[in-house]
Amino acid sequence: MSTDRAIHVESLQRKFRVGGTDVFAIQDVSLTIPSGRLTVVKGKSGSGKTTMLNILGLLDRPTRGEIRYGSVDVIKMSDHERDRFRRSEIGFVYQTIALVALMTAYENIDFRMRVAGAPLADRERRVTECLRLVGLEKRMTHRPFEMSGGEQQRVAIARAIAHRPRVIFADEPTAELDTMTAVHIVAIFKRLIEEEGVTVVMTTHDPAMMELADHVVEMENGLVVEHDALEPARD
Ligand SMILES: Nc1ncnc2c1ncn2[C@@H]1O[C@H](COP(=O)(O)OP(=O)(O)O)[C@@H](O)[C@H]1O
Ligand SMILES: [Mg+2]
Repeated sequence: MSTDRAIHVESLQRKFRVGGTDVFAIQDVSLTIPSGRLTVVKGKSGSGKTTMLNILGLLDRPTRGEIRYGSVDVIKMSDHERDRFRRSEIGFVYQTIALVALMTAYENIDFRMRVAGAPLADRERRVTECLRLVGLEKRMTHRPFEMSGGEQQRVAIARAIAHRPRVIFADEPTAELDTMTAVHIVAIFKRLIEEEGVTVVMTTHDPAMMELADHVVEMENGLVVEHDALEPARD
């Protein structure tokens, strides 16, 4: 596996000004997210996971520090370049599943690809392929209310990968699902890594999810401790 597709983070800081005081959501973080792997970010509520994901996914900017996607410095980009980079290279999955209620599974994914500018001929094949990747090819014409929470989240994942991003960021994607369904969702991420070579970074509270990770990043008070897969936690 080449390391130049990894995400490199150096001396990252994110400060919020709240009622006249500074809150350091990220104090000082340096780490490497390996490509083609499942990285799980764990940590208590308020430890900085969402802030970290939003910054890595270029939805938010750090107050200090560097982020490189391989050798590409994404902080130095203009707003326009960064938006374009995010639209083509990054996919997001959220805790609250945000499918369009009136659209079928197929239409939800197709719509996202249309927004990304994909031509019709590509879309047809790719939407079907993405539904197959998440095991929902038979649910193509179902609307969200006709599917379970787990199935809806799988459609959201299919939608997030449809434009072939190199990284998927998922913020507590399994928090509203039972453990069996949650494990299934993570298994789908692992399959996407295997079959599509994407990098997945997800946050979770659930220890069962961490066991499935290739790489665990633990956050505490805006700082991180990194662990390799299955390595016992350092204390
Ligand atoms: N937009 C914001 N304005 C002010 N403080 C924020 C903002 N976003 C996050 N924070 C603060 O930063 C810290 C980390 O929050 P967050 O990244 O949401 O943690 P987590 O996702 O681990 O629960 C918290 O103390 C939170 O209150
Ligand atoms: Mg959060």
